[in-house]
Amino acid sequence: MPFQNRSSRTRQSTVLLVGIMVLILTIVAVLAAVLLANGTKETSMQLLHWKDRGTTKNLQEVILGRCYNYITTVNPELRDKDCQKIWETIQKAFIYKNPCNITTEDYQPLLDLANHTVPCNKSLFWSKTNDLVHRYTKTNHNFLTLEDTLLGYMADGVSWCGKPSSPGINYESCPKWSECESNPLSVYWKMASKMFAEGACGVVQVMLNGSIDAGAFRNNSIFGSVEIFNLDPEKVSTVQIWLMQNIGGPPSLALGCMHQWALNTSHWKLAPILVLHSI
Ligand SMILES: *[C@@H]1O[C@H](CO)[C@@H](O)[C@H](O)[C@H]1NC(C)=O
Ligand SMILES: *[C@@H]1O[C@H](CO)[C@@H](O)[C@H](O)[C@H]1NC(C)=O
Ligand SMILES: *[C@@H]1O[C@H](CO)[C@@H](O)[C@H](O)[C@H]1NC(C)=O
Ligand SMILES: *[C@@H]1O[C@H](CO)[C@@H](O)[C@H](O)[C@H]1NC(C)=O
Ligand SMILES: *[C@@H]1O[C@H](CO)[C@@H](O)[C@H](O)[C@H]1NC(C)=O
Ligand SMILES: *[C@@H]1O[C@H](CO)[C@@H](O)[C@H](O)[C@H]1NC(C)=O
Repeated sequence: MPFQNRSSRTRQSTVLLVGIMVLILTIVAVLAAVLLANGTKETSMQLLHWKDRGTTKNLQEVILGRCYNYITTVNPELRDKDCQKIWETIQKAFIYKNPCNITTEDYQPLLDLANHTVPCNKSLFWSKTNDLVHRYTKTNHNFLTLEDTLLGYMADGVSWCGKPSSPGINYESCPKWSECESNPLSVYWKMASKMFAEGACGVVQVMLNGSIDAGAFRNNSIFGSVEIFNLDPEKVSTVQIWLMQNIGGPPSLALGCMHQWALNTSHWKLAPILVLHSI
């Protein structure tokens, strides 16, 4: 029966075809599910795993302790500041928030509470000379750095950031500047630096690192991008630059672009001082 034979063969190949299609569809579905699952896992991991260290343990105690120490022993003129409220506004600025979406508005209440200025002729700015500048101010009390203001003092060496899920604080990791600029620490330091610069008056000191290949004045540093633009030409008469040069190291004359900028705006007399020091 050739006809029946042909039809059963057709049926067989139809079954085979359907079988293969089902198999292919299953494989595609499984693959899609695996890839999708992998994708969502990856994005949720990204939200939690940042490259910088996480929030400092006992952050509240550290901030409160430093605040009380500052207003009682470091700078008693500020004894009327409310440390408890200052801590609450810091906390409110970042907890339960996306750590890449912090704005200066988040910190505005803090700025209103902690804002203060330093006396004229006493401001000392620095860039890439962290160790040296603070060794210097520890023994010589003529000058004050950002870390000698209340905001700088509370946050020096401390880190914090939030996350949307409970408990709202990420103790495992926090975003680096390179991962996202609008993170709680970067925004805090930019804001504190701006306040520090806005308040400066008279003769202003800047301690730069003369042994940096890319140049002592870098326009992407906090000093080069925030502080210098917030110095008030009405109040600041002179910017005195201390160029700290490693003894024996190659000289760096890369103040060039800062000179250019100062000349363009003809705001200040720049008075560079070359200081040699050994480490
Ligand atoms: C899943 O993602 C990881 C990286 O998170 C990657 O190494 C791996 O190859 C991915 N697997 C598949 C099946 O795409
Ligand atoms: C960032 O924050 C603003 C307000 O603080 C909010 O409107 C916006 O949706 C947030 N964006 C993301 C991506 O979280
Ligand atoms: C900080 O305080 C000074 C006066 O004490 C004021 O002139 C300045 O506007 C304040 N800045 C901010 C950002 O609140
Ligand atoms: C700041 O320094 C300048 C120049 O040395 C001086 O004329 C001025 O009186 C000083 N101001 C204060 C408040 O010490
Ligand atoms: C200047 O920068 C170099 C390289 O980062 C560093 O080794 C040196 O200690 C810095 N100098 C000062 C005075 O901080
Ligand atoms: C910073 O300096 C570099 C090199 O001198 C220049 O290309 C860049 O445009 C500058 N950036 C800003 C924001 O001024």
